[in-house]
Amino acid sequence: MQFAKITPLLLHKFNSESELLKAIEELSFKFTQNRERISDYLSDPRLTSAYVAFYLTTNMPKFEAVLKWMPELWIEELKNSTFVDLGAGPGTFSIAFREWVGRPVDVIQIESSPLMKEQARLLWKGLYPGEDLKQTLESDIKNKENLFLLFGHSANEMGAEAALKYIRQLNPKHILFIEPGTKEFFPEMLKIRSELIKDGFEILFPCSTSLDCGLKNSQTDWCHQFVHVRHSEEVERITQMARRDRRLLPLTVQAFSRQTFTKHKARIIRVFPETKFSFEWDVCEDNVIKHYQVMKRGLSKESLNNLSSALAGVSIEAEYEKMIENSVRVRVKFLNNHPL
Ligand SMILES: C[S@@+](CC[C@H](N)C(=O)[O-])C[C@H]1O[C@@H](n2cnc3c(N)ncnc32)[C@H](O)[C@@H]1O
Repeated sequence: MQFAKITPLLLHKFNSESELLKAIEELSFKFTQNRERISDYLSDPRLTSAYVAFYLTTNMPKFEAVLKWMPELWIEELKNSTFVDLGAGPGTFSIAFREWVGRPVDVIQIESSPLMKEQARLLWKGLYPGEDLKQTLESDIKNKENLFLLFGHSANEMGAEAALKYIRQLNPKHILFIEPGTKEFFPEMLKIRSELIKDGFEILFPCSTSLDCGLKNSQTDWCHQFVHVRHSEEVERITQMARRDRRLLPLTVQAFSRQTFTKHKARIIRVFPETKFSFEWDVCEDNVIKHYQVMKRGLSKESLNNLSSALAGVSIEAEYEKMIENSVRVRVKFLNNHPL
């Protein structure tokens, strides 16, 4: 999505690039260092517009990168669902969903800030003239067959209890969380996970089973992932000038469904610096954390490149070779479904 398409649709008109950059910096500061004043941006048109300029362009590739981890059959289901954007803000993920599907879609946004709702309408009408956007819940929503609920950086703001209340009220078939990859949010995510499993949901990502999380009692580690995304040149330039890395993004992703889909047994959860001889990863295998070591010797250049670019979140199929102290030495057969 180009800036030129978005800027006429902002509530606040920035007079210069430096005014926009200043607003982005202010906003990032609130998100990362001044969490107690976080809700300020929801009532300030300048910060709401900066939010759109910065996060709309970078959330779109994030959404697509996340979907690449998911079971293919699930993805096909999602395309035909009613999309409920929960804590929609200006609708960044509604737009990401609409762009991904590539045709008019059934979208409902749930958002508590009137200013964000106004900004969301302005964007949707400008980008998709004539296409319907719902911002209220109809009374029969619970009976809709195929609801796909997405929490985009919103469950961490509303908390586990409010998120679960929405889920139980709406009775969706599929749920996806794309939340910040922070240690602080992880216990909240685990609370939601265990309640949803109790309610009969199947966890599709990142776990391969509904057993307790292997990191539940860890004081130092938490399960989060990384995506590497590319942006258009102008977006790249703005993010660099705002001194924000939006290429390598940490995030907490979890996906749930009422249906069962084929899942992977093992997933990389932490990448350690590679050594001269090996790649070293922590891997969650059927909810048990193991240390994998992959030797470089004898591998093709292409395989080495693929292994070297693997990030936390990628699924893995490997053959055990032997145990070396606390590590399992393995030979990788597939990374995210791609043969090695
Ligand atoms: C960080 S923004 C994320 C917006 C958008 N989903 C995105 O990822 O770009 C979080 C949004 O959640 C909304 N929110 C927080 N608590 C809420 C609640 N209880 N009900 C509805 N929306 C809520 C806030 O108003 C805010 O717009």
